[in-house]
Amino acid sequence: MSTVCGIFGCLSDTAPQAIFEGLKRLEYRGYDSVGIAVIRGKKVTVEKNKGRIAEFITSIDTAQIESDVGIGHTRWATHGAPCKENAHPFTDCTGTVAVVHNGVLENFMQLREELLKKGHKFSSNTDSEVIPHMIEEGLASGMSLKDSVVGAANSIKGSMGCVVISSREPDRIICLRRESPLVIGISKKGTFCASDIPALLPFTRKVMVMQDDTIAILKRGKIEIEDLCGHAIKPVFTVINWSQSVAEKGGYPHFMIKEIFEQPLAIKETLKIPLNFIDRAAGLMEGKVYLTGSGTSYHACMSASYQMAKRLGIDARPIHSSEFTDAVSELEGATVVAVSQSGETADTLSAIKYAKSKGAKILGITNTLGSSITIISNAYICTQSGPEIGVAATKTFLTQLTALDMLMLRIGLRRGKLSEEEYRTGRRQLNGLPKTVEEILGSSERIKSLAMKYFTRRDAFFLARGANVATAMEGALKLKEISYIHAEGYPAGESKHGPISLVEPGFLCIFVAPTDSARGRVIGNVMEMKARGAKIFSIITRGDSEMGQVSDDYFEIPQVADFLYPIISTVPLQLFAYNVAILKGLDPDKPRNLAKSVTVL
Ligand code: AGP
Repeated sequence: MSTVCGIFGCLSDTAPQAIFEGLKRLEYRGYDSVGIAVIRGKKVTVEKNKGRIAEFITSIDTAQIESDVGIGHTRWATHGAPCKENAHPFTDCTGTVAVVHNGVLENFMQLREELLKKGHKFSSNTDSEVIPHMIEEGLASGMSLKDSVVGAANSIKGSMGCVVISSREPDRIICLRRESPLVIGISKKGTFCASDIPALLPFTRKVMVMQDDTIAILKRGKIEIEDLCGHAIKPVFTVINWSQSVAEKGGYPHFMIKEIFEQPLAIKETLKIPLNFIDRAAGLMEGKVYLTGSGTSYHACMSASYQMAKRLGIDARPIHSSEFTDAVSELEGATVVAVSQSGETADTLSAIKYAKSKGAKILGITNTLGSSITIISNAYICTQSGPEIGVAATKTFLTQLTALDMLMLRIGLRRGKLSEEEYRTGRRQLNGLPKTVEEILGSSERIKSLAMKYFTRRDAFFLARGANVATAMEGALKLKEISYIHAEGYPAGESKHGPISLVEPGFLCIFVAPTDSARGRVIGNVMEMKARGAKIFSIITRGDSEMGQVSDDYFEIPQVADFLYPIISTVPLQLFAYNVAILKGLDPDKPRNLAKSVTVL
């Protein structure tokens, strides 16, 4: 389960070859297991395993899967380890139905219980496996394959990009879309479906993006679309003229901007992390608390430490992972929260191994299930960003902050620092994040024009107070790593203690200044900089005319609860860094001297 896996299905003369070709086009996202199901005679034949497509193809006897109808899947594990049993496709008990699924089923436990009582057998610990068994129930009651899929969809809560075949109706593939993308296409080569457009391009450029709660019935040379009530919908196709490299990026010119725009979805998925995961993590937090990470992940630690102190009265010290062994010695009974998108950063692994050897418990927060951090930690939370390809961390940072906020709310409730009502309000506010981030992304053109104005600068300060200092530091890191502009992020009140000596007319100062409890004091810092001729560009809360007036330029963000500003203020800073890099003619996805995962100390 996950919304980030790859799906491909087709009715074509050489279905397995087409499926492998399609899945390879989705593999740029980075996958850990793969599987295929084809119809042969009265049964479906399934091959699946852990690993990548190339190894998989060489490991199977392709003569045994020759067919003209089939489905395939590449999985990037989010829940349930990356292993053969958890790989898709999944079949029903009769072996006549096979399903691949992207998305998260919210009520799968209940559905699984009901199916177990009816005698169904399960072989994985994924949520997706309930789908073929539910379809089996429908078929057993005499329904068609399509109606059985609709019947299953009506009982399932959650997101589904779901593709189904059955040897009982071997001339068709049924596709169902609900909140998880599916595209379909047709040509002389066959009829196709996939989770992303690039996979279809070797076969057809005539594609249609399915809408939520619709079903597509694919046959050779024919596609029918219906809503879940059986009303026919006229298919509307678009001709895609992207180059292959743009295609891999879903139509965006770079992975970084694609990933920035994926943030609402990444947060939405992270907010679905089951409470028992968060509670297990919260239960670990006893004794002294340390937060450790590197680069962007360290900024997430810093932001959380402010919030823990301010909201919960917990003194949680953030320490750069590379400094950890030199900075702490007494760790018996302490908890170390280790944050790392890759889960493989050598500095962070070394910090947690050291902490563990000294008697600390480790809570990992990572975006990569099965990574070293998930193995070493006593408990972990896996953020749901999907693979991040751009070297500059973007969506993984926002989901780290989201997960840390979810954790803090639970800790607050457990420790009596937050009432039930305050907890519920906090969750409601968090749940509004995807929409707010989407709204900010809707104003990305404004950031582009600000980037045009400032991209020739050689230096920049990023300033803020409170938890937004971490955001300012993250904004500075983004700008320096992809645009090679010297940028420093630090607490606004520190300027007068040294850095202000660098300020001369035209020096760029970017203030993160939303209307939180620190905003009044930030104005004073803005005035200090203005008095020395600095150019002020501020991130402000919509309607804050005072801050707007003292700034040369500003970008407005919606009003949210104070604890959410560090998250949403990051978005314009990411967009700023990206646009500056583009204007300077640089490749933001592959900045010089940097690697996505730093596995050396
Ligand atoms: C951020 O844009 C950088 N890619 C870098 O600072 C990164 O955050 C750091 O290396 C830590 O990586 P991790 O989250 O995978 O541990």
